[in-house]
Amino acid sequence: MTHRPEIIPPSTDAIRRAAELLRAGDLVAFPTETVYGLGADATNETALAAIYAAKGRPRFNPLIVHVPDLEAAETIGIFDERAKVLAQCLWAGPFTVVVPRRADAPVSPAVSCGLDTVALRVPGNVVARRLLEEFGGAIAAPSANRSGGISPTTPMHVATSLGERVAMILAGGRCEVGLESTIVDMSVEPPRLLRPGRIGRKSIEGLIGPILAPDDDIIASETNVPSAPGQLLSHYAPRLPVRLNAATVAPTEALLAFGPDRFIRGGATRLNLSPEGDLLEAAANLYAMLHRLDKPDYSAIAVMSIPETSIGIAINDRLRRAAAPRDSVPNP
Ligand code: TXA
Ligand code: MG
Repeated sequence: MTHRPEIIPPSTDAIRRAAELLRAGDLVAFPTETVYGLGADATNETALAAIYAAKGRPRFNPLIVHVPDLEAAETIGIFDERAKVLAQCLWAGPFTVVVPRRADAPVSPAVSCGLDTVALRVPGNVVARRLLEEFGGAIAAPSANRSGGISPTTPMHVATSLGERVAMILAGGRCEVGLESTIVDMSVEPPRLLRPGRIGRKSIEGLIGPILAPDDDIIASETNVPSAPGQLLSHYAPRLPVRLNAATVAPTEALLAFGPDRFIRGGATRLNLSPEGDLLEAAANLYAMLHRLDKPDYSAIAVMSIPETSIGIAINDRLRRAAAPRDSVPNP
């Protein structure tokens, strides 16, 4: 296929056509509240293989399966009491749970890349929900970008990154959260936070008690089994080098500021994630601003420091990976 993707507003008709394309084994990009997803029928091995080809994604990195509700999720994964509490309290929303996979799960084993677990998510975005309803099955969807690059929060980001590799882009505007879902692995004891996001560790611990997080010593000292293979050290990366905790900016650098930036002079250009220092606004702007600054006109992107609190933890997680050496091996 060499045609351009259709970028189309999510009318009832467009959603019906998107569901037909999914049934035919094509790839459809659709909005979620976190980032745009690259969707495929989760039962169709050929379509799943097309996701890996379109993204250039390593074959060991499993996919999140999107479903309309907990009932559908329970046909695919095994939920213990605590997993059920998380699902009931945090779905629909920017949250993904990893649970043991049912032997009779009605999805291809390819979504799990050989693991005996499966990642499940019920998105809150209304277009995503209508698409799931119209399709009537589970949709496997990674972020709709080339592997390792910046995640997409607008339809144009998807078109620029994937181009004709996707049959249709449902254009639902900007993603309101702007960072990928929080992922918690409930298949291990204690449960562990695999990827920080809008739903913070404290909210999860408030619901189910203590969990382990990536920077807890016990995890750092383990050998890296790809239980969260997306957690490669270099990820979410622009083409330009990224420099963190910038207190100054070189004349050739682009500055990505946060909060009042009048004391940092110079730089070739600048954008501000949130002049008022609002972390939610900064998260929503992060990927779009990285996309805008990632131009060969500049030598690097210098990023001011972001407070390590609430969603700032997730912002810093993504920024550290954006700044990591590009030939890096899996974390740690
Ligand atoms: O917000 C999101 O989660 C977006 C939207 C589209 O839903 N999706 C997304 O997918 O971020 P992706 O493929 O970019 O990231 C999925 C992450 C990867 O880090 C992957 O390793 C992890 O989920 N994952 C998937 N299945 C897993 C499993 N069985 N065990 C552990 N980690 C898993
Ligand atoms: Mg991704």
